[in-house]
Amino acid sequence: ARKKIIITIDGWSSCGKSTLAKQLAKELNYVYIDSGAMYRAITLYFLRNHVDWTDTQEVQKALEDIQLEFRYNENSLQSEMYLNDENVEYVIRDLVVAEKVSEIAAIKDVRTFAVNQQQEMGRKKGIVMDGRDIGTVVFPKAELKIFMTADNKIRVERRFKELFEKNPNITIEEVKNNLEMRDYIDSHREVSPLRQADDARVLDNSKIGMDEQLKLALSWVHELI
Ligand code: CDP
Ligand code: CDP
Repeated sequence: ARKKIIITIDGWSSCGKSTLAKQLAKELNYVYIDSGAMYRAITLYFLRNHVDWTDTQEVQKALEDIQLEFRYNENSLQSEMYLNDENVEYVIRDLVVAEKVSEIAAIKDVRTFAVNQQQEMGRKKGIVMDGRDIGTVVFPKAELKIFMTADNKIRVERRFKELFEKNPNITIEEVKNNLEMRDYIDSHREVSPLRQADDARVLDNSKIGMDEQLKLALSWVHELI
């Protein structure tokens, strides 16, 4: 059998990270982990339970009551996010969650909580994880690190299309503002800001399609295994 590696995919919001991560996991028979889903689920819990996240003690207490788990869905053939045994895969994609997630993901205790679990999931390798700090902080020794980008306008259009299917009241301005705000907070926060790892390979998919992005990433994988 081929050796198993860790593949990390970091980058800006809605530039195609999870699409590529799922493609690679399927092709290589690896586990795909959406680290952003964990921050989104924590955010959902904080919002629902009116946690005052400016209060460190309240945050720590809340985290003790949060159990996150990815469960594989045989029908969709995808792993889905569970928060305290509830399937939250769909609700965590709401703009309501996206409006607060970057603020909450910037909290040190929240990051420690998520990063510890992410590192545990990668112990056996054979994993593709996407996020913001996966190649820099979670798996600094990963064999393959990809940093994804795409033009702002294209990213906004792609995400708008997704959200509009769920909620036709959504406007392109709302989506644009949300992506800009998250990218700003994510790249300027003190703990584990979004940045390109020195040894990351850059993939700009503004102009390339799904098949091409997979082909390119697979060629990098095959240099290694
Ligand atoms: O898919 P999208 O680009 O919209 O974002 P996501 O991957 O679902 O992540 C949602 C938010 O979680 C990001 O905007 C970050 O604030 C946070 N996040 C993070 O801080 N670190 C990660 N490794 C992944 C996500
Ligand atoms: O995970 P991230 O937020 O970076 O992005 P995503 O959810 O993988 O992709 C956002 C949207 O862009 C999805 O609707 C994808 O189908 C679409 N996409 C695309 O049109 N062309 C690509 N080469 C990659 C993604």
